[in-house]
Amino acid sequence: MIYMGDANWWNNRFSARSDKLMAHDSKLEADMAVFPNHGTALDIACGDGRNSIFLSKHGYSVDAVDFSETALERLHSFANAEKQIIHTKFIDLSNDSAFDELKEYDLIIINHFRLNKSLYPDLLKHLKKDGYLWVNGFHEIPSNNPNVTNTDLLIDGDFEKITNCSLQNKELYINGEHKLVRYIWKKNKVEGDQ
Ligand SMILES: C[S@@+](CC[C@H](N)C(=O)[O-])C[C@H]1O[C@@H](n2cnc3c(N)ncnc32)[C@H](O)[C@@H]1O
Repeated sequence: MIYMGDANWWNNRFSARSDKLMAHDSKLEADMAVFPNHGTALDIACGDGRNSIFLSKHGYSVDAVDFSETALERLHSFANAEKQIIHTKFIDLSNDSAFDELKEYDLIIINHFRLNKSLYPDLLKHLKKDGYLWVNGFHEIPSNNPNVTNTDLLIDGDFEKITNCSLQNKELYINGEHKLVRYIWKKNKVEGDQ
């Protein structure tokens, strides 16, 4: 579980990074064709914002949440430099009430963070009807990142509590030395629908 770490561990990691914004996730870019071309988006465990900024440039109004203050400070500095406005919230995603203050979104992304499966039902209350949930991460432990352990790997069981959504696509793929998996869910019903 080192990969998820605690907030201090992540603050130190973000402090040690260069002042350059990392490239956004290439799988997210490839999947943009599936999603509406504008709307509202939520970036869960956004880090220092590479994907939030990418979505904002695509025309989304983006809320981004993380528990690393250093990451969120860096995100704001990168967003300013890129002339994008991202709304950030400091949220600990291990907390049961993590999503209480959030709005509703057309797109929710989770990249390289393993959300506790018990939180998916709450998270999906914040997804609009016909909205998409995009989850991407490690499928196998990468040989070049000693911080990733078995408990960080995404598995199908992570999504077992999801209702009112259909799995549009699951793809196992390789990017360099990384074996990854990406899920796309679409919300087909909201509470009150028959
Ligand atoms: C591997 S980074 C991924 C960052 C970003 N999604 C990206 O693709 O660049 C994992 C992120 O999860 C955040 N994180 C880990 N545990 C968390 C928690 N309990 N609550 C909120 N954020 C957390 C870390 O601060 C870090 O920004």
